[in-house]
Amino acid sequence: MKNKIEISGLEVSYGDKPALNRVSFDVHENEILGIIGPAQSGKTTLLKVINRTLEFVPEASMDGTVKLDGVDISTIGDVYGLRRRIGMVLPLPVGLPLSIYDNVAFAPRAAGLRSKSQLDELVERCLQQAALWDEVKDRLDTLGTKLSGGQQQRLTIARALSHEPEVLCLDEFSIAIDPVTTMRIEDVLKTLQKEMTILLVTNLVQQAKRLATRTAFLLNGDLVEIDSTDVIFSDKPTHQATYDYVNGTFG
Ligand SMILES: Nc1ncnc2c1ncn2[C@@H]1O[C@H](COP(=O)(O)OP(=O)(O)OP(=O)(O)O)[C@@H](O)[C@H]1O
Ligand SMILES: [Mg+2]
Repeated sequence: MKNKIEISGLEVSYGDKPALNRVSFDVHENEILGIIGPAQSGKTTLLKVINRTLEFVPEASMDGTVKLDGVDISTIGDVYGLRRRIGMVLPLPVGLPLSIYDNVAFAPRAAGLRSKSQLDELVERCLQQAALWDEVKDRLDTLGTKLSGGQQQRLTIARALSHEPEVLCLDEFSIAIDPVTTMRIEDVLKTLQKEMTILLVTNLVQQAKRLATRTAFLLNGDLVEIDSTDVIFSDKPTHQATYDYVNGTFG
């Protein structure tokens, strides 16, 4: 089993306030790694480190290393290239004020793709992968912001896929969408797992249980435990805090 990402001794602080404390773990290629933990435990911070968007936060400082395919990401000069390899889907859909088509074609065009037929093909493929194509194929020129919340979240996923990422990070993607749409997107993720590595930050522990190959439990910036999802959700995870959190008896 190949490691896609290797994190070692990762420490992050905002000013003098620690957010992650010497966190070390690997992410296996083609797994869905569930990342669970209460509010403020450092989940979003972890994703920001991985695609180097923590650099946008002036008061943040970090130590430790993150390797992607064995290469320390801090040594990667082409940070935009790195962010294309690591797609990010945020909690609320952030649709560009553009048509459905242009939302998905935006990044490939910015990267220089001009051929109409290639763009058409790519837009269709990404919308298919995000399970949105059938609902929008007849109105690709309407504004993305006119879609329902759940459709916009799938549009956000389609846009993340337009970069052909190797790693897809999702930060609480289902926070603003209904359970039926959530299930559809969960099915999408299971299919995408065959082609990429997925980091799934979720407040819904049952979502990690349904989807994740392995699950990591973060608490106050500490990685309490990472193990196969079966173990994390069993009667005997290694730590009592893990048991309490996944069973809703925490705190
Ligand atoms: N830009 C920032 N400036 C200062 N502190 C921050 C910043 N971003 C995050 N923090 C702090 O870092 C800690 C970890 O935050 P983070 O957003 O990573 O947690 P989280 O697990 O994603 O929480 P949630 O479940 O609420 O999204 C928190 O104490 C938070 O207040
Ligand atoms: Mg968060």
